[in-house]
Parts: sequence; C-alpha cells; structure tokens
Amino acid sequence: MNIAVFCSGSGTNLQAIIDSQKKGYIKAEIKLVVSDMPDCYALTRAKNAGIKTVVVERKNYKVKKDFEAEIINTLKKEGIGLIVLAGYMRMLSEDFIKAYENKILNIHPALLPSFKGTRGIKDAFEYGVKVTGPTVHFVTVDMDAGPVIMQSPVKVTEDDTEESLAQAIHEEEHKIYPRAIQLFVEGKLKIEGRKVRILK
Ligand code: GRF
Repeated sequence: MNIAVFCSGSGTNLQAIIDSQKKGYIKAEIKLVVSDMPDCYALTRAKNAGIKTVVVERKNYKVKKDFEAEIINTLKKEGIGLIVLAGYMRMLSEDFIKAYENKILNIHPALLPSFKGTRGIKDAFEYGVKVTGPTVHFVTVDMDAGPVIMQSPVKVTEDDTEESLAQAIHEEEHKIYPRAIQLFVEGKLKIEGRKVRILK
C-alpha cells in the first residue's frame, strides 16, 4: 500500500511514522509527503528520509477546487491508498473526502469529542481537565468528528504547564499513530456506523 502524509508544520508525527516504517513495523510505503507550507520542517524530514515531497500552496489557486484537484492528481499518479493527516492545517472539502472515503486518517491532540479545533491542547489545559490525550480517527466532512480508531489517556498533573502537557501528548501521538496506520494497512479497521472495530 502507498501512503501519503500531509503536513504543514514541524512533522514530529511524520518522523514517528517514518521511523516505524524503517523499523519494519509499518508494512507499507510512504510514497509522498504533501505540504501547503513550502518552508515547514516536515519537508526537511521527508527529504532526509528520501521521500518524495510535493508542495501545493493554496495561494496559487483561485478556487479551492483547483487547489485540491492538483493534490488529487498527484495522489492518483502515485497510486495512494491511504492519506495520513499529520498536522495538516487545512480543511479538506467534501468532494476530496468523498474521493478518498474511509481512506483518510487524522490525529487530534485531545480526547474527541472534547476540545475540537486547532487549540485542542490549550483548551483542555485551560479547562482544567484531569485527563486528556490524542485521538486517531477517520476523517469525515465534519471537523474532528469521524469514527474514532484509537485514543490514549494522558493525566494532567498540578505541576504540568501547557508545554509539559503538550510534550506528554505528543509522545503518545507518536506511539498510537503508527499503530493505527499499521492496523489500516493490515485491513483490520472495520467501520460500523460511528464505531471502529479492530479485527483480531
Ligand atoms: C499534533 O499535535 C497533532 O495532534 C495535530 O497537529 C500536531 C502536529 O504536530 N493534528 P507535528 O507536526 O506532527 O509535530
């Protein structure tokens, strides 16, 4: 199976996925890293690992449809069977999501459905929750609302700062995302309505 990872930022999840693949844990090829940010560090990580990169910037297209058509074109050329969103800061359109229905994964840094959106760590910390943690889910049209594949609880202690909490959450992300990806590759994720059953 060919995987494309979409990133906009530092790409620590991308790195964890690359490392897992190199160790032979993820049995698929990371064919492509797609980014909308030409200077993001995720692209450097991809290049260091010898993975093909493609930058598609929204500002170069009049309408979102054309922007996404360019990405889909590349995905088709590379025969991509799984899209992994790893800190990709753009909402995909309904048409895009339908074109890759049940083949797009995302990781969110809070226990969904709590603290959706781009400030999942900050919002949870400020709310004062005692437990938070990342969620891997299928991407559907509604933001951060697709069927949940995996979650990992992270305790919030009284000594935690937002930064220390973020670090603890990221460590968990780097464990569960490769696991969820390998389960997908093995065909072990079965969507049943809102639920995802993990086949043995
Ligand atoms: C992660 O916290 C992830 O949960 C969120 O974006 C962040 C990406 O971080 N979707 P990185 O670029 O993988 O370091």
